[in-house]
Amino acid sequence: MRKIFVAGNWKMNKTIAEAVDLVSKMLPELENFDDVDVAVAPSYLAVPAVAELCKGKALKVGAQNLFWEESGAYTGEVAPQMVAEVCDFVIVGHSERRTYFGETDETVNKRLKAALAAGLDVIVCVGETLEENEAGQTEAVVTRQISKGLAGITEDQAAHITIAYEPIWAIGTGRTATPEDANNVHKNVIRPLLKQQFGDQRANAMRIQYGGSIKPNNAAELFAMSDIDGGLVGGASLTADSFVSIIKGASLVTIVEETSKE
Ligand code: 13P
Repeated sequence: MRKIFVAGNWKMNKTIAEAVDLVSKMLPELENFDDVDVAVAPSYLAVPAVAELCKGKALKVGAQNLFWEESGAYTGEVAPQMVAEVCDFVIVGHSERRTYFGETDETVNKRLKAALAAGLDVIVCVGETLEENEAGQTEAVVTRQISKGLAGITEDQAAHITIAYEPIWAIGTGRTATPEDANNVHKNVIRPLLKQQFGDQRANAMRIQYGGSIKPNNAAELFAMSDIDGGLVGGASLTADSFVSIIKGASLVTIVEETSKE
């Protein structure tokens, strides 16, 4: 069965108190959805409190970034082992980190390797700008980001990696990629690259999330596509109602897929 994976990236939102309040509202609602993998990534300071609430629950907790060195004079940074003490996973290469904080394919690769070595699962983000999209460069950009970002990663390590395709023009804009366009990138660009590097079996088992203005009213049709295995949700993960509605959409797809196999 294809198990859909929906993660909420809260970005720089929610104080500790607000994060605790939000996750307390989500948890009882999420109890009924064990057919979907669900996760949230609060900002660093809120992570321990949220992780405490999620102990033993079906809600995984992650960080939005990490640094690749183990310790030392790196003021303001957080090391992989520090993240792994509290988190199940980490997001690397988000476009906002690439745009505002100088993240490159090379530093994505360093963070990815360090995170895996620390025992974390990793969501690696890729995606093109509007200009690149309009210039027909989506395939070239995503290919570069995947091949450099995942350089040197082995098939065993790949079992701990999720790819998030987030076209930058769709992030926070209310402008979603059509399910067909997103699926086309997942199916015809990203999955073949994963197959090349890790083999068919591993690549087919890896999850490729879509991200960019996922909302309750478009989630199910996105997740119903053959190669959209989940979502990385920004704005709509900031309230319990909309995030839970998106999980419901994912669960519905799982049920439909199971039924159609019978
Ligand atoms: P939005 O869902 O707000 O468009 O954000 C997507 C995103 O960047 C998730 O990482």
